[in-house]
Amino acid sequence: MSRIVYVNGAFLPEAEAKVSVFDRGFLFADAIYEVVGVVGGKLLDYAGHAARLRRSLEALSLPAPLDDAALLALHREIVARNGLDEGLIYLQISRGSADRDFAYPPAPIPTLVLFTQAKPVLVNPKVETGISVVLVPDLRWARRDIKTVQLLYPSMAKMEAVRQGADDAWMVEDGLVTEASSANAHIIDASGRLITRPLSEAILHGITRLSILEVARDLGVPIEERAFTPEEALAASEAFITSATSFALPVTRIDGQAVGDGRPGPITLALRQAYIEAKLKTAT
Ligand code: PDD
Repeated sequence: MSRIVYVNGAFLPEAEAKVSVFDRGFLFADAIYEVVGVVGGKLLDYAGHAARLRRSLEALSLPAPLDDAALLALHREIVARNGLDEGLIYLQISRGSADRDFAYPPAPIPTLVLFTQAKPVLVNPKVETGISVVLVPDLRWARRDIKTVQLLYPSMAKMEAVRQGADDAWMVEDGLVTEASSANAHIIDASGRLITRPLSEAILHGITRLSILEVARDLGVPIEERAFTPEEALAASEAFITSATSFALPVTRIDGQAVGDGRPGPITLALRQAYIEAKLKTAT
């Protein structure tokens, strides 16, 4: 079934939704994006994603093509036009099209695209088994806090995981885990502390990470915001990832070695459950 895609003011059947070959998103990856989870036709953690979108725009001096109210209305309309019940909304803003030049055009007209992807997010068979990850060096650029569409290295990392028969990759820099190919990485140590890398330019400031930390505080799970090593992750009692569509998802194997007893950990599962309950209540 053909989706309805939003491109620069028009809602179009996906086959007719087109962007110029001169678009700077295409030529320079000069574009940022957001992914918002949808359950029951409602947006999860929308305010956080909207705030991060503004932050990414500002970091790259990209003009915002819409104000806050119009942006929310657009998210709601793309869900409605596609009859989306569960899945995600992908939004991308590029610096628009201009003759190829490394310097930004002086008066860019941004390209704004939104589309939906239907997929089950509440019920995920990987919750029962956990996912396996492989460790790879983090070879991305140094401003990972900006959510740009420069996703070639994360794609390569994912393909390395696939090549090794695993589900995903955890990236390592200077002997410390940064994050997963498209999610934040966390562990629970033997004493039940949640260890997560603090926010910096080295990782994306995950909206789900932030919400999971709130949930952890509510559940009385002690939190330590510090970077951890692959060795600590291998010795941890639990490991998990967070993202807009995976919520909190157990990691049960790292480089072929079982994490804890090799089964999804109770703290991870409790965080996932509490996160889902909290976010369904505030979904907009
Ligand atoms: N990825 N780190 C990276 C590198 C990511 O790409 C993502 C999200 C996250 C988690 O952020 P959040 O909790 O705000 O979704 C962390 C999205 C889902 C994607 O690229 O599809």
